[in-house]
Amino acid sequence: MEYIVINGQKPLHGNVNISGAKNAAVAILPASIAAGDVCVIDNLPQIEDVSNMINAMRSMGVRCEFEDEHTLRVDARNMTGQVLEEKYARNMRASYYFMGAMLGKYGYAEVSRPGGCDLGARPIDYHLKGFTALGATCSQEHGVVKLTAEDGLKGANIYLDCPSVGATINIMMAAVFAEGTTLIENAAKEPHVVDAASFLNKIGAKIYGAGTANIRVKGVESLSGGDYTVLPDPIEAGTYMIAAAITNGDVTVENIIPKHMDSVTSKLKEMGCAITEGDDWIRVCGNNEGLRACEIKTAFYPGFPTDLQPQMTTLLCTAQGTSIVTENVFDARYRYVNEIRRLGAQLKIEGRVAVTKGSCTYTGAEVMATDLRAGAALVLAGLCAKGETVISEVGHLDRGYGRFEEKFRAIGADIKRIKKA
Ligand code: EPZ
Repeated sequence: MEYIVINGQKPLHGNVNISGAKNAAVAILPASIAAGDVCVIDNLPQIEDVSNMINAMRSMGVRCEFEDEHTLRVDARNMTGQVLEEKYARNMRASYYFMGAMLGKYGYAEVSRPGGCDLGARPIDYHLKGFTALGATCSQEHGVVKLTAEDGLKGANIYLDCPSVGATINIMMAAVFAEGTTLIENAAKEPHVVDAASFLNKIGAKIYGAGTANIRVKGVESLSGGDYTVLPDPIEAGTYMIAAAITNGDVTVENIIPKHMDSVTSKLKEMGCAITEGDDWIRVCGNNEGLRACEIKTAFYPGFPTDLQPQMTTLLCTAQGTSIVTENVFDARYRYVNEIRRLGAQLKIEGRVAVTKGSCTYTGAEVMATDLRAGAALVLAGLCAKGETVISEVGHLDRGYGRFEEKFRAIGADIKRIKKA
């Protein structure tokens, strides 16, 4: 078993280079199987979800070779099948993207229902409704979704009940080769939706309006190959920005798109952090007077990202005054709270609302990561806790944060990974 061990109360200082975005990479990789030639995808983060995605692609005969640790050469021209085995589908949520990519390209897909962080129900009904609207026949047996479209897919107008990131990207991928035009209304606007559309357009798709609530996809006969660089990860960047705040440090996150961080930047400023930004960096300094309480409501982009809610809630527990957090995206994203309570957090949870009186001084303890961003929240609490914090189930963190101990050590954290029988 592996554990992360942190000795806290060391303010972080220095620069952190932000990696490629997990949620863009896990969409662009499956999208690349629809290409008609070789694709070279750069700025891939070194995380488990990317490794799992590549293993899944290789299991279906897609050739994937690393040119360097962040650059992958993908050749799907001799793909041997459109059936994704359960062992590859169950270990992440993004395996659902193989449905849209293979249905669009081959008119057939057999994919086990996805896994991923346990944040509540997480159905895929919007995805399946979209595929059906495009003319696919959808059935499910033994947990495996089977999609067929013998006569090919036809463009349709699809309205999403909520701006689901996964459904938006999945339907977009399926519609790339559909006859005619597809309109996705109430689409998600997240940066990684735009990145996935930009990649597909780079290799010949005709997708318009990505980043707005209305995305149009004009069907094409085929796609070419091409090179693409994955956008920087706003959630990794936000996690390090909050780390600067919670340790009263001075950290600059580099190789980012500051615009994507606006909701986080404004909230940290509201709490009393000193923040400056340049073309591709943001500097966050804590506040010796302590940070002020504030209210957070998670929302779809450009609202405050749900993937930074656990990290921000952990910070708010240390602020002066009462803060209120409302989780509007997932129905069960407070499973981490019992773990940060072990470190001293004072939090009251009523449904989707968390309230903290603040002014908590964390003290180190043994805790367990319950999912990816919960693990990140525990690291942040450990970084400012008095004494030693030991975090188990670190595999969750490895899914989405590349080399995070190295990156934190480089800015002054006393953090290491140990193995215990
Ligand atoms: C993506 O998940 C991300 N994962 C999540 O990041 C992120 O939290 C989420 O988008 C919201 O931004 C990946 O991109 C791999 P949704 P996804 O579809 O696609 C409901 C992380 O930590 N819904 O936007 O699953 C759903 O239950 C992970 O990096 C349906 O009801 O999110 C949720 O309440 C965690 N039916 C809401 O919509 C559907 O068919 C938003 O989900 C689809 C979704």
